[in-house]
Amino acid sequence: MSLQGKKIVLAVTGSIAAYKTPHFVRLLVKAGAHVRVLVTDAAAQFVSPLSLATVSKHPVLANVNDGATWNNHVEMGLWADAMIIAPCSANTLGKLANGLCDNLVCAVYLSARCPVFIAPAMDEDMWLHPSVQANISKVRSFGNNIIPVAHGELASGLVGDGRMAEPEDMVTHLSVFFSEAGKPLKGMNALVTAGPTYERLDPVRFIGNFSTGKMGIAIAEALANKGAQVTLVLGPTHEHAIYPGINTISVESAQEMYEACITAFDSAQIAVLAAAVADYRPKEQAKEKIKKKENELTLELAKTTDILAGLGKIKKPWQTLVGFALETTDELENARKKLKEKNADMIALNSLNDAGAGFGHETNKITLLTQEGAPIALPLQSKKDAATAIVDHILELQHAQKIS
Ligand code: CTP
Repeated sequence: MSLQGKKIVLAVTGSIAAYKTPHFVRLLVKAGAHVRVLVTDAAAQFVSPLSLATVSKHPVLANVNDGATWNNHVEMGLWADAMIIAPCSANTLGKLANGLCDNLVCAVYLSARCPVFIAPAMDEDMWLHPSVQANISKVRSFGNNIIPVAHGELASGLVGDGRMAEPEDMVTHLSVFFSEAGKPLKGMNALVTAGPTYERLDPVRFIGNFSTGKMGIAIAEALANKGAQVTLVLGPTHEHAIYPGINTISVESAQEMYEACITAFDSAQIAVLAAAVADYRPKEQAKEKIKKKENELTLELAKTTDILAGLGKIKKPWQTLVGFALETTDELENARKKLKEKNADMIALNSLNDAGAGFGHETNKITLLTQEGAPIALPLQSKKDAATAIVDHILELQHAQKIS
């Protein structure tokens, strides 16, 4: 990842995650960036400005004026190729959303003409509060880039959403944003589904599966990496996409996933359906918790809508539709059947008989089937590399569609 020569203003605000910022600055400098650091008063309680000055090799600025010297926030805003506010506290987020300006960080933010990245960090309940979510939507609508929060242990001891993205992920985020080369999908929209679906049985139980969503997320990132604007319809999972250019819509059930897909498919040139969608849902969803019975309990299940088949029916000639097939027996034959019956342009076949392939693994072994031509067997490789290979084949399909 290279940020060679990029000028980056890092604004650190008051959150425990500020302790990670000297490491973040080191990674930015290592990637070739020139970094200037600003801190709020609250940030300076969590991380030493001396550490940040040492790793960035420049004085750290805290106030609009330091006694006799006025720090020119306009100049700083114009100097930067990007500003990143990390960690961004709930308090600073509120100020950014409302145009308040009571410190140097806010003054530089309001003066900046460069892209601004915001990496929120707070406790989960704060993060989920409607006022914070409204502020996130508001700052996003101003054109700022939100770096998604991560899931994990929080300073409160609770486990949940709200952690600042890891410094390595933030560097990736900035590098992808700046790498303009090789963006053949620029201006195109893509739809990707990933993860499992949960079909509710009663208020506390569901029918689900072991999908983690890693493969679909890797595809969303590979498409975004090539310049596409991606809508990622993601079932319940703790995994998330980190790249810019991906709008994640979180859903729970097959029906919710279907509805989100129908809306996004309308303007999508490419759709890759990698989710492990439940084929059946409980016929009735009990309002109260189902009580234990004497012996057996019989559940009646109803079929869910097949999203891939549904999109296959309404597909236009300018759209490329890709599905997955997870098979345990007669793999090629079953996958070919899905390709035809669901009217897909390509099926990525995983066999559970291949070691290192399928749910939860970091690797995958995929065979690509298209309407014409022989199956293409890809090697066992990381899900990231497999995703890149799939996207490369989608580009070839699109090219063939254009010239036919
Ligand atoms: N799929 C879908 N909607 C469903 C079920 C599956 O969009 N309700 C999609 C999956 O995302 C995948 C493809 O269809 O792209 C094949 O999924 P798979 O589970 O392998 O096959 P099924 O059609 O469900 O058939 P079976 O479970 O009998 O193998």
